[in-house]
Order: sequence, then C-alpha cells, then structure tokens
Amino acid sequence: MCIRELRDGDKDKLVEMYETFSSAERTLGLPPEGDELFEWVEDITSKGMSLVAEVDGKLVGHLALVPDGRALHLLIFVRRDYQNRGIGTKLLSFAVNNLVSNPEYERVVVTTDLNNDKAIRILQKTGFQLKVADMECELHLPLMY
Ligand SMILES: CC(C)(COP(=O)(O)OP(=O)(O)OC[C@H]1O[C@@H](n2cnc3c(N)ncnc32)[C@H](O)[C@@H]1OP(=O)(O)O)[C@@H](O)C(=O)NCCC(=O)NCCS
Repeated sequence: MCIRELRDGDKDKLVEMYETFSSAERTLGLPPEGDELFEWVEDITSKGMSLVAEVDGKLVGHLALVPDGRALHLLIFVRRDYQNRGIGTKLLSFAVNNLVSNPEYERVVVTTDLNNDKAIRILQKTGFQLKVADMECELHLPLMY
C-alpha cells in the first residue's frame, strides 16, 4: 500500500472508488450518488489538496483538504473492503505531518455524524478535539506555528 498525492489522471479511478460506497455507508450525504459524484470529485480535488491510498494500482482511500477561509475542511474515505487495516490512520497522519503546515490556516475541521465512532476514533487519535452539536459533530485540529 502506498500513500501519495493525487495525480492528474487519477480522477476516474477515484470516481470508481466512490461508486463502491453503498447508501448505508454515506456520511452526511457524502459521497453523492449518480451524476453529482463526478462533479463533487472534480470540485474537492481542484480546490484543495488530496492524498490517495493505492493498492496494486487501485485507489482504496482518499483524503481531501479543502480551504474555507482560515480553515481547512478535511474529508476522508476508505473503501469498505479495505477498512480496519490502518489505511485511514496512515492517510490522516501523512496529512497532519506533511500538508497542513501553512500559516494561512488556523485549524483543520472535520464534520461527521455523532455515531461515526470509527472516524471519531482515528481523528482523536491524531490530535483532533471533538465539538458536539446535536446529531452532528465537528472535530478541530488547531494549527500552531
Ligand atoms: C472513518 C474511516 C476513514 C476509517 O478508515 P479505516 O482505514 O477503517 O481506519 P483505521 O483502520 O486506520 O482505524 C480504524 C480504527 O477504528 C477502530 N474501530 C473499528 N470499528 C470501530 C467501531 N465500531 N467503533 C469504534 N472504533 C472502531 C479500530 O479499532 C481502529 O482503531 P485502532 O487503530 O486504535 O485500533 C472509514 O471507516 C470510512 O471511510 N468511513 C466512511 C466515511 C467517513 O465516515 N469519513 C469520515 C468523515 S468525512
């Protein structure tokens, strides 16, 4: 398995990865389905930075950092059949250690469902702080320079 930055030419493979997500696996409506999927992939990958996890030429994980004012919004998805193998944790550690050190940004923010125990687990393990609001929650990683 290798973790690397997204390259030109990866987007079709990324769409293929997201097509494997069932409705039940979506978190806060993401990834979108049908025609909106390609547009969403195009949008998040063109606005910010993206990392992918690759196994035997297949993309199995994606982490995107999308700028929003002085925050970076983080999205992370690992294919269901590759989950619980440490890939999400590796993507997050790589991003936190290599991608977020830019004084333009004050924090990294992730929004997810309050019952998304696995996401909350890996984010807290990587240093994110949990802020609860109703059934959704935000996890913040303050950036200090
Ligand atoms: C969240 C997600 C990225 C995690 O990826 P992953 O590759 O499975 O994560 P890892 O294998 O690195 O780590 C999983 C951790 O969760 C723990 N875990 C597994 N099932 C769990 C559960 N039901 N409750 C709590 N923790 C759980 C594992 O023990 C492991 O922790 P550990 O390493 O301390 O033992 C993946 O589940 C996913 O893509 N989910 C759907 C999209 C999503 O919710 N994204 C987050 C918001 S954008």
